[in-house]
Amino acid sequence: MITKVVLIEGDGIGLEISKAVVRILDAADAKIEWIPALAGMAAFEAFGEPLPTATVDLIDQHKLALKGPLTTPVGKGFRSVNVALRQRFQLYANIRPAKKIPGVDTPFPNVDLVMFRENTQGLYSGIERWVDEEKRHAESIAVVTRLASEAIIEAAFQYAVDRHRKRVTLAHKANILKLTTGLFLEVGIEISKRYPQIEFEDLIIDNMAMQMVINPARFDVVVTTNLFGDILSDLASGLVGGLGLTGSANIGKEHAIFEAVHGSAPDIAGQNKANPTALLFSAIMMLDHLGQNECSQRIERALMATLADKNDRTGDIGGKGTTSSFTDAVINRLQK
Ligand SMILES: NC(=O)c1ccc[n+]([C@@H]2O[C@H](COP(=O)([O-])OP(=O)(O)OC[C@H]3O[C@@H](n4cnc5c(N)ncnc54)[C@H](O)[C@@H]3O)[C@@H](O)[C@H]2O)c1
Repeated sequence: MITKVVLIEGDGIGLEISKAVVRILDAADAKIEWIPALAGMAAFEAFGEPLPTATVDLIDQHKLALKGPLTTPVGKGFRSVNVALRQRFQLYANIRPAKKIPGVDTPFPNVDLVMFRENTQGLYSGIERWVDEEKRHAESIAVVTRLASEAIIEAAFQYAVDRHRKRVTLAHKANILKLTTGLFLEVGIEISKRYPQIEFEDLIIDNMAMQMVINPARFDVVVTTNLFGDILSDLASGLVGGLGLTGSANIGKEHAIFEAVHGSAPDIAGQNKANPTALLFSAIMMLDHLGQNECSQRIERALMATLADKNDRTGDIGGKGTTSSFTDAVINRLQK
């Protein structure tokens, strides 16, 4: 069955890496029909708004999107399209795997963890205000509900079961933020009892951050609230070589958007230098989500082998390849 996926190529290097990913998925015979749509700077220039209704409607209709990085112009005052999409489609789970890549040297061997971040609440609920007229006192409200906590924690446990993972670690600050992250921990403990085959532990966020640097290989599936997850998921990407090497999924009950987490890299845009790996990992996650596992595994094997080859990988990770030669090299390895 062919699945229709809305493709937002994005801005800057988004154009190059999206074309690379489409070429690779087509060559791998992924059962995808691409529906092009605009967002970000490209949409702003074409329609005067960064997230046109037509794009939102297409995602609503087809339920799935693959999105390249978007430029957020400084000072033009438009809200983050990424945040708007997460809220509009209630994409409550942000999932970011971080896995050691052969040939990419880091001080951290054997990292293979998956971060589940609650994507709609916490301190990012957007409830902020000035307390006084002089604007010397501001406050933000962190929102944590049982329903949203259950959704993300359940998703993390279910993922652990489906992927034969062993342990779920819940990161929190329930010793200080007793009501909000306390509720999140309470829900985690309850849900863990329904998954006796999965080991469960909870760690206070500051200890968690230290443990991730001292011994990241001990982590398997990690689940946490929005702000902590935002920080820890970038930390996790750093453990395996940076944001250019990790994919990302935003999953809701009905819709899912897969995206690269790096930006539009205007400094190298249009120069055939961009590394398509992050967007390709996101596309691999999308194929898994669609049940096209044979295809996703074939692409992942070809990608890993290409990254391991210094002649093929791109300059940002010490290789000699260009965007197009890297793409060719992945395609050439697809059948092997
Ligand atoms: N998810 C998103 O859409 C997203 C995320 C972050 C930043 N942005 C936007 O991107 C624009 C540029 O932001 P920035 O410069 O802070 O961050 P950036 O991620 O675009 O670039 C940071 C550095 O990393 C390099 N880089 C990034 N991705 C790369 C890739 N795939 N291959 C090779 N090198 C890569 C760039 O060349 C640059 O040197 C801004 O408008 C920002 O708002 C968008």
